[in-house]
Amino acid sequence: MAIIVDGTLVFNARDPVVLEEKAVAAAELLRQGKLVAFPTETVYGLGASVRDERAVSRIFEVKGRPVDNPLIVHLSDISELPGLARNIPAEAWTLARRFWPGPLTLVLEKKPWVPGVVTGGLDSVAVRVPDHPVALALLRAAELPVAAPSANISGRPSPTTADHVLADLAGRISAVLDGGPCDIGVESTVLDVRGGRLRILRPGSITPQEIAGLLQRKCEIVELSADKNPPSPGLKYRHYAPRAPLYLFLGEPGKVTVKMQEELETWLSRGKKAGLLVTLESAKAFSGYRNVELIVPGSRDDPAAMAARLYAALREFDARRVDVILAEGCSPKGAGLALLNRLQKAAGENIVQVE
Ligand code: TXA
Ligand code: MG
Repeated sequence: MAIIVDGTLVFNARDPVVLEEKAVAAAELLRQGKLVAFPTETVYGLGASVRDERAVSRIFEVKGRPVDNPLIVHLSDISELPGLARNIPAEAWTLARRFWPGPLTLVLEKKPWVPGVVTGGLDSVAVRVPDHPVALALLRAAELPVAAPSANISGRPSPTTADHVLADLAGRISAVLDGGPCDIGVESTVLDVRGGRLRILRPGSITPQEIAGLLQRKCEIVELSADKNPPSPGLKYRHYAPRAPLYLFLGEPGKVTVKMQEELETWLSRGKKAGLLVTLESAKAFSGYRNVELIVPGSRDDPAAMAARLYAALREFDARRVDVILAEGCSPKGAGLALLNRLQKAAGENIVQVE
């Protein structure tokens, strides 16, 4: 049994008792070359069989995704890795054994059979084993490697609930498995382990410190850049953006609050409706205003909790029809790195460094 929204089947897979049955039904769709969205511990993914080039091409079409931006291949178990990648370094195995299933994506040399549509024409492939019972049940039932980007329209915030998926893609995909909200809420850490180097192409909840600690050597972080040929094609596109412009305020928290109040008053005086995304610690400073939608994703001391709520907050601002969003930044320490990265990408050029 499933409900249908605009022609897209919605399988309720929240109940562990029915999970297996729903996963089998969704896996059958994948084998038929259909697109199926599913929850992972990070965000919802939009899956297609890696072996079906037409299905993979459809992913790019429905998302409006540039074809040179490669997809992550999802496996049900570490033992499937040699089926996709070759010359796998010993350190990659060490990382996979420690962090899989989990939010770490490894970029490796691809096996020749892996289609170019999946890898954006690159000779590398990005792979991970997700840590979510619904994703794993689907992957096991499908008995296929599944290519899956985040299940949003390109450039929109990634989906962390089945409703977010439907808001962007209902009617354009065959099905979504609803497994409830995602725990982590930001996409996996993407780590390139080729050529004897360790390079983080996209920060995520597995931190450079954890990776360096495990392998006992330094891990580089590739800067966000507008290069024409960045090492990860995804780096060159603006991402995670709500509809209203988002201004990101960085600096010492006390000074940031004062600057944000000034900016807020300017927007309000022009008759605009403002969305505010601030930490628990600074929320009080913004409680007295009218025409303001305040969202407090968590404490400054818990960037992981704030990251988990970020995308839902950005979509909520859209729903509340704000004209502008003012967001407080965070320290890049630990889990803060991934949060700050997503905020920066949502802000684009609109970054206010408060001195
Ligand atoms: O947590 C996640 O990673 C989620 C869930 C669904 O697993 N997936 C996800 O996929 O965020 P997507 O397509 O939204 O982001 C994939 C990122 C992009 O920045 C892409 O450029 C990069 O991974 N990537 C994929 N294959 C790559 C490759 N061969 N070399 C370098 N970067 C690659
Ligand atoms: Mg994405």
